[in-house]
Amino acid sequence: MKSIAITSGKGGVGKTNLSANLGIALSQLGRRVTVFDADLGLANLDVVLGARAPYTLQHVLSGEKQLSEIVMSGPGGIGLVAGGSGVEALVNMNGPQLDRFLTAIAGLADDCDLLIFDTGAGVDDAVMAFCEAADEVVLIATPDPTSVVDAYAAAKTLWCRKPNAKIQLVMNMAESAAQAEQVANRLMGICQQFLNKAPTYFGFVRHDSKAIQCIRTRKPFLLAAPTSMAASDVRALAKSLLTSEPARKEPTSFLDRLRSVFGGQLKESA
Ligand SMILES: Nc1ncnc2c1ncn2[C@@H]1O[C@H](COP(=O)(O)OP(=O)(O)O)[C@@H](O)[C@H]1O
Ligand SMILES: [Mg+2]
Repeated sequence: MKSIAITSGKGGVGKTNLSANLGIALSQLGRRVTVFDADLGLANLDVVLGARAPYTLQHVLSGEKQLSEIVMSGPGGIGLVAGGSGVEALVNMNGPQLDRFLTAIAGLADDCDLLIFDTGAGVDDAVMAFCEAADEVVLIATPDPTSVVDAYAAAKTLWCRKPNAKIQLVMNMAESAAQAEQVANRLMGICQQFLNKAPTYFGFVRHDSKAIQCIRTRKPFLLAAPTSMAASDVRALAKSLLTSEPARKEPTSFLDRLRSVFGGQLKESA
């Protein structure tokens, strides 16, 4: 099992679409994948996947459902955990409730090969907690300079909290491979200069009008436009994700990491 948090500094850079389509691409490569909507502010993974989720995390947090009961089968063979605006309740959970929830997340992870968290943008505690708990982080930026600056800030914050975090950079909405690499190199150079370490460059997804058409009609482009540039770029990312060296073996279990990063809340309410 491997857990991956997909995050960004700036919003609207393509996290949810990459989570969804990368999940489908990995599933097409024969892996059992669950994509989890961990964007507490703007939960829309189910919408992007064109799935009607009868139950969301909101039902789990209100105590109406168990997490295992709300996992639904999404398009392309992926498992889907839909979010809900009530997910902010995570911060309000009492100790035993939160611990049950975290244990259920770890249980989800045990039931699949890859658990992908579609996180919110920015550096708030909840975003960082999912990034810290995951084995690996995929940090998305676009060639837009503000997105690059915000990606730097996100990497800096994550490394302050977890100095050995494995961060892999994806350039989305790139004009070309060359442009993606050029912008990525600039960002990695700034990180190296000021933080003494840099994310590894993982790859790119080109800006693609066919993908935008699919997104507008709520269809994952990997299925609705499989020959599009964006789909072929995402398939390349999925392949390299499976062949890339595994994240360092973490000294503690996924559940222990979840408990430790969400632990402030556990302790406060115990
Ligand atoms: N490869 C791409 N090519 C063109 N537009 C894209 C691409 N990926 C994302 N977008 C655009 O970015 C918007 C935001 O994507 P989304 O995945 O919701 O971002 P986030 O989850 O980071 O807020 C989409 O609605 C779409 O218009
Ligand atoms: Mg999103």
